Amino acid sequence: MKRNVVVGVTGGIAAYKTCELVSRLVKAGYGVKVVMTEHAKEFVSPLTFETLSKNAVIGDMFAPKPHFDVEHVSLAKWAGVYVIAPATANVIAKVAGGVADDMLTTSFLATEAVRIVCPAMNTVMYKDEATKNNLAALKERGIRIIEPGTGRLACGDVGVGRMEEPEEIFEQIDRILTPNPDYRGKRVLVTAGGTSEDIDGVRFIGNRSSGKMGAAVAEAVLARGGEVTFVYGNISVPVPNGVKAIPVLSTQDMYDVVLKEMEDCDVIVKCAAPADYRVKEKFSSKIKSETLTLELVKNPDIAKAVGERKGKRILVAFAAETDDLIKNAAKKLASKNADLIVANDVTEKGAGFNSDTNIATLLYADGRMESLPIMAKTELADTILDAIQSL
Ligand code: PMT
Repeated sequence: MKRNVVVGVTGGIAAYKTCELVSRLVKAGYGVKVVMTEHAKEFVSPLTFETLSKNAVIGDMFAPKPHFDVEHVSLAKWAGVYVIAPATANVIAKVAGGVADDMLTTSFLATEAVRIVCPAMNTVMYKDEATKNNLAALKERGIRIIEPGTGRLACGDVGVGRMEEPEEIFEQIDRILTPNPDYRGKRVLVTAGGTSEDIDGVRFIGNRSSGKMGAAVAEAVLARGGEVTFVYGNISVPVPNGVKAIPVLSTQDMYDVVLKEMEDCDVIVKCAAPADYRVKEKFSSKIKSETLTLELVKNPDIAKAVGERKGKRILVAFAAETDDLIKNAAKKLASKNADLIVANDVTEKGAGFNSDTNIATLLYADGRMESLPIMAKTELADTILDAIQSL
């Protein structure tokens, strides 16, 4: 499920409560984009929503754009949840009839996201047969209705029609997007990709780590409600949305960042493939000699340093092996003082570098061992998170 929420705002006084909803969604780490109707802009300034959502407010179907895309479709595809709050009687009628005459109604019709409507209007309008029938039609199409509450309305009447409180709307969206929040409150540092060691002005020592494994672990933590600090070297996949992302180049850079950032984390998962060696003396300009001998020196072992300082934190390291998988991984478990080692034989088909799948054996510090079948790295990421919970 995409961890993105499109919030559609229509012209009602309850629009001010939607500011609180947007703020809560952003604080919880969800991507938020706001679409406003022209009438909504009479109640709350787009600048308020822009500041809260950290994204430009979308409204005009035909406004000039820096990049070409069919905006109502790309927005519809971006959403994991699309909520209209407040939803006036007018917009409910339009959605019921399939009318698509502005950005909000068009993108709401075009989306396959979970759709939610939060009605807000005068009691008589809400109880009118037309509105009742329109809401029933929406429900029949699988659109969820968060029913309004009862109380004093902006017009002075007392009755049903107040938009549900932002906390409750947030809770319902959060339950949809984070159904298993077992990492909520946990901060996880994930390293990903390969580091690179400069040889001269243009060349470096590196490896084929793509960052897929690390990105999968980061995404899984986010999907389970946790926070992620993502320290990454060379990667060929996008940095996951919603992480604190820190790019690094060399193993020494990764060492410095990890040792600083681990202070604020509860769990450290070391998926990265740091270069084990660097050249003793770097050449500043491009080397042009016929033959070349490089003297390499050992880089610091980041996982080992974390293991020495971890205190109550949990350390998960990987072991990338080409032979004697279990024996070598068991040695790394002990030497790095890790709580768990994810051992992969990188010579196996479907395992290791740059593949979408992996074949892993989990070795626990308490002596347990679990050999896993080939599975998608996304699935392995969840299995690792389950294993951490079992420690
Ligand atoms: O990125 P992908 O393309 O998805 O590939 C995934 C992967 C193959 C990189 C991943 O599954 C993996 O095995 N990661 C560990 C790679 C590695 O460096 O293994 P190692 O056995 O050399 O190191 C053991 C552990 O110590 C690892 O957790 C590593 O991050 C860490 N290490 C290694 C060297 C070093 N100087 N400092 C470290 O902290």
